[in-house]
Formats: sequence, structure tokens, C-alpha cells
Amino acid sequence: MTIRAQVEKLLAQMTPVEKAGQLTQYFYFRLPEGAEPVLDFDADEQPKMVESKLQEGVTGSLLFVTDPAEINRLQRLAVEGNRLGIPVLFGFDVIHGLRTIFPVPIAMAASWDPETIEAGQVVAAREARAVGIHWSFAPMVDIARDPRWGRIVEGAGEDPFLGAVVAAAQVRGFQGPELGAPERIIAGPKHLAGYGYALGGRDYDEVNLSDSELWNVVFPPFVAALEAGAANVMTGYMDLNGIPATGNRWLFTEVLRETWGFDGFVVSDANAVRNLLTHGFAADLTDAGARAVNAGVDMEMTIADAAYAQLPAALDSGATDVATIDASVRRILEAKIRLGLFDAPYVDEDRARQVLADPAHRDVARVAAQRSAVLLRNEGDLLPLDAAALSSVAVIGPLADSARDIIGPWVFDFDLDETVTVLDGIRARTGDAIRVEYARGVPVVQREFPSLFDMFGWNKPSDPEGFDEDAEFQRAVEYAGAADVAVVVVGEWQNMIGEMASRSSLELPGRQLDLLQAVVATGTPVVLLVMNGRPLDLRWAAANVPAILDIWYPGTQGGAAAANLLFGDVSPGGKLPFTWPRTVGQVPMVHTHTRSHEPENQARRYWDEASTPLFPFGYGLSYSRFDYTDLTVDQPTTTTDGTVTVSVEVTNSGAREADEVVQLYLHQRYGTASRPVRELKGFRRVTLAAGESRTLSFPVGPDERRYWNAAVREWVTDASIFDVWIGGDSTAELSTTFEIT
Ligand code: BGC
Repeated sequence: MTIRAQVEKLLAQMTPVEKAGQLTQYFYFRLPEGAEPVLDFDADEQPKMVESKLQEGVTGSLLFVTDPAEINRLQRLAVEGNRLGIPVLFGFDVIHGLRTIFPVPIAMAASWDPETIEAGQVVAAREARAVGIHWSFAPMVDIARDPRWGRIVEGAGEDPFLGAVVAAAQVRGFQGPELGAPERIIAGPKHLAGYGYALGGRDYDEVNLSDSELWNVVFPPFVAALEAGAANVMTGYMDLNGIPATGNRWLFTEVLRETWGFDGFVVSDANAVRNLLTHGFAADLTDAGARAVNAGVDMEMTIADAAYAQLPAALDSGATDVATIDASVRRILEAKIRLGLFDAPYVDEDRARQVLADPAHRDVARVAAQRSAVLLRNEGDLLPLDAAALSSVAVIGPLADSARDIIGPWVFDFDLDETVTVLDGIRARTGDAIRVEYARGVPVVQREFPSLFDMFGWNKPSDPEGFDEDAEFQRAVEYAGAADVAVVVVGEWQNMIGEMASRSSLELPGRQLDLLQAVVATGTPVVLLVMNGRPLDLRWAAANVPAILDIWYPGTQGGAAAANLLFGDVSPGGKLPFTWPRTVGQVPMVHTHTRSHEPENQARRYWDEASTPLFPFGYGLSYSRFDYTDLTVDQPTTTTDGTVTVSVEVTNSGAREADEVVQLYLHQRYGTASRPVRELKGFRRVTLAAGESRTLSFPVGPDERRYWNAAVREWVTDASIFDVWIGGDSTAELSTTFEIT
């Protein structure tokens, strides 16, 4: 029987209530004893309610179960419990790994390496599929230009070109060549669209986006994810230009399906259909359900009180119609069939255990952590450290030995025992040869308002029993003063970044800057490791600390990777996926701004602080040096449909093998709209041996030059003169031009 015929056969037997059930996805988790739910739901009753819905056959999908035995038990309730026995899809936020935790997504983007990113999601998919998860709510492809927004950590940063490459790589990793490929899962790019532009960086707040920004900046990563085959798309929580995204027919039908040709299924963000009431958009639950499904939202994700349970009533009243509901049900059933759920609804729990323990996964994670680190400063070539010349190292800072923090936010099924902290990594790397002393130095910092995830108990940081703040500070300074080198780890605790983790400042929380200053004042050379998912205010460090390495939240193997980088087993080669501001007052700040009145004063738009970044987009050093020469264009002039090839010679002029991310930026001098001063239009990460040169070529064709023109509301390719730069970051100086006639 064809898939189509299977779907139609099932559909023909289904009642409106069962159809509505297929379109409903429930959370399923149990909170620890005594935990206070941060969201508004009855934590005791909710799981029971879901179990009875499974048995009644009125649930299409569950989210948040990661234990294979639990998954099998719940699946059995669906398959054996009701008359049609349709298996449920298990979805989960497999954001940067399931058991093996990879660097957070912003870090993976900083690798500027699609192969590393794809390899990470292949492992994540393998682990997820082994435990019975069929679908990841990832990649988050929202462009983030305001680092106050906590979810900047989940995406690829500010740039649409980089964002598109990263999005496609993640989808390939999760889903493989086709839906249903073995050991792969559904990829669900999210959140269509514009969630990263929340007003003031405040999570969930409204978004007002210009037509130009929407098409030129926000949409490209979604388009790339869909072109890579993503079978699902998630909506966003917020109002987009005055219409809630989850009730936005233009977005989900005209753009997503009619313009982009998407034929997968759409899921709402959590409770976002019910939220159509909160927004003052829908009149009641029935109206909310009808308007969401009519807009093109196939499945509702909810914790309770499903609006889609009202779809039969909406059918009766004519608020929606059978064709709309059936189209959505078909999409869900088709996904289940393609994934093979009807043939194999259960997982092998023994095999799941083996897959989760596969040591090869840890290797992939370690390499990813090494490749995502960004070297921000290295005065006097302090790094790499020469282990043979050192007798002692002081490791300082509470984040230096926190297994929970090094794996970052948005993880639920981690293994802290096997997680390697920075301290563990340094100790393992140096062995007995070097004395390693550790002091936390400062207490952990608590949030003013709780995190969404603090209800899970393991999410909040804590100080060790009997922690004495003054004595500890003193100890840290003493250790640092007596050591040959101090490695200080600073940043944000992981519950300070992510969903519901926006901030009004970018300063180092707590007394971390005091500690850093006191350590630097000892005169011992200091290497600063930064653990973060957003740019932090590092102005003091950038002027006073010789070496700064951004390791992000590098995951399960993060400490091993950090040690390998510190001691030069490998050279850092990552680059910043966002513009790093000096201070919060500058945000949003992006490298793709347009040129305007008095451009000679671009760096002096504020009277109190330079209006330039602390570190530019695309920036990152290595333990070697790279020279760029012979920038050429194969033809000085071509027509609007022509492609020029831009080439450059890159030479590793340092003394050791290292990676460089070669970046191409483009600028259109004049045309039918003002275009950004520079736009990233090509990049490649290469490994060059000491002294090696390589010529790299990049096509610049109509795809690289076209843009959405808001005046005529269509894609245009202007005749113009173009400047092109190639170099190691967005301030590259080597340039040439070509003309389009
Ligand atoms: C987030 C989504 C996530 C969902 C399920 C929501 O609060 O916005 O990105 O996939 O929860 O965990």
C-alpha cells in the first residue's frame, strides 16, 4: 500500500474527535517531590490526564519524555489502548545533544564549520532515536541581534548568511537524506518568525519587523532549513507586526506553504494556540483553535486545556472545515508512516543504553568544543601554554569546576559524572608534572527572578557547604600569586542564559570582575576563559588580561577541549557569530548596518563611548598568523544574471598548523535601495600547515547579490559597482571591485 493510501484508509475511519486528537501534542513529565511548577499547571494531575488521552486515542504526540522505558510504556498506552492504535510521535528539545552534550548552538555556529555542526546533530539524532525520540524541536534558526535576549545562545547569531549555512547543516544532521532514514529524527526549525527581535530583548515580547528585515535577514535561515528537507516548523510565541505568529495565516500559509512550498507539518510553540486569547486576538478557546488551524498550524503543543480539543465544535459552527482539518491530519499521519512508527513503535532499551554510552560520541563532542572556541586576545603569545616550562597552575572561579554549567542550558538528560570540567581537563592534561591548585574565589550568583527550568531542581547553582566568601577570595588570590600562570574562568551560570533568561545588563554577574582584577594584580600571567552564550562586558579584560579564550558552554567534553586548546594540542580557529558590543547601551549593534549621514562619525555616535564593537563580527585569532594576498576577480564586468569568481591566496605565515575562516564580504555601492556597508556572502574554514598557501575561490552570482526591495516588494538584482573584501573577519581590508551592468 502506498503511504498515501495508508493515510487515506486511516483518515476515513477517524471521528472528528480523533482527528483533533492527532493534532494535539502534550507535555509529559513528572516534577521532583515538592517542586513548584514555574508554569501554571497541576503537576500531579497533568500526567494522569495525558495517560487517559493516550488510551482514548486523542493525542497525536508527546514531548519531554527521554527515558526509553517510559517512552515504551506510554507508546503502549496509545498503540494498545485505543481502537485505531495510532502510535504517538515523541518530540523533544534535542538542542545540543541528548546524553552527549555538545557546545551550545551559538558555539557550534562559532566553528563556522558546517561539517562539525552536522556531525554533532548526527550524534544527537542517533542518541535521541535510540531512546525513542522521533523529532527534535531544533534547530532554532532565529536571528538574534540583541544579546539581552537569552535565547541568543540557541541560535547562530546575527547573520543571515551564516545562519542559513548553520541551519541547513543542522537539518542534514538531524534528518539525514530523507525522512525516515535510520537513526535520524525530524528536524523542526523554529520559531517562524522574528522571535529574536523581542522588544528590549525581553523574552516573548512583541516583535516589529520591517519588510526588508523580514525577507533579507529573518527568513533566509528558514528557507535554507527547508531546502535541506526539514519536515517540521514551529511557530513563535510573540506578536509579529501586530498579529500573533501562531495565528498568522500570511506567515504559515502564504509564505511557508505557497511561496516556499513547504509540505511538512507545523507545530505551535508551547501553549501558543491558547495564548491567542492572552494576546487579545481570539475570543475563546474554540476561536483560538479554529484560527490557528486555519492559519496553517497543524499541531498544537500544550500542557493542558488543548484549544484543538475544541476543533470538533469549530467544525460544527463552521469556524473551520473538514478539508482544513483533514489536510493537517494527513501531514501528521504521513510523518508517522515515513518514520516507520506503525511498523516499529517501540525501542530496544538495551540497545538504547549501548548507544548512549558509545565513546565515539564523546570524541565528536570534544572535537566540536575545540573547533568552536574563539581566541579573543593573546598578547605576547601567552597561549599556548608550554607545559614543559610550567610547574604550577592556579585555576580560579566557580565556573571552572561546575559540571552542570559547562554543559550549558537546554539539556535534560545529561550525565554529570562523565562531564569534564575545566579543572578536570587541566588536571588530566597536566598529570603529576604540574601542581594544579583550585579556588572558587567568589560565590555563585542567583537570579533575581527564577528560571523557567529551576522547577527541575538541578538547575540552580549552589555554593559548597560552609562556603566562606572572604576566605575563599583570599585563597584564590594567594594561589594565583604563587602560580606560574592563572587560568580564570568567568561568565554566566547556565540558568542565566536561554529561554526566560533575558538580561538588562551584560556585566559579569556577581564579584567575578573583582576577582579577575585581584588575580591580575598579583602580576601572575592570566588566561581568561569565558563561559557564555552571549557577549558580556569584557572591556576591562580586553585591556588588561593578556589572553582571552571564549569557550562558550562547551559541553560534556568541554574541559578536555579547553585543556587541549590551552596547552596547544590544537589551535583555536572559531570566529564570532555576532558583533561583540562594548556595553549593553550599544545594542542592537550589527556589522550589516547601512551607511548614513556623516559616516566619518560612525565610531562616535555616542559622546560617552565609542560606537564600535569591542570585537567585530567574524573575529577570532589563532596560534598562527594568516596573510591574504592576490585578491582577484575573474571578470571586471558582467550582467545582472552573471557570476564573477573572486579568488584570494591565504598563507599561514606562522610557525604551526592552524585553522582560518576565510570570509568574503560584499557591498553594493548604489541601486534601488540602500544596502549594508558589508554583507557576508561566502566563507570557508581551512586548515593550513605552517608556511602553506592556498588559493580559495568564491562565486558571487545573482543569489549573492539579490535582495528583497521593500519599495517594490520583490527580489531585485541591481546593476551597480560592488566592493568585495576577503579576510579573517568583517573588518578585512583587502578589497577589489567589479561591475554589474
Ligand atoms: C520554547 C520552544 C520549545 C518548547 C518545548 C517553548 O517554551 O519556546 O522552543 O521547543 O518550549 O520545550
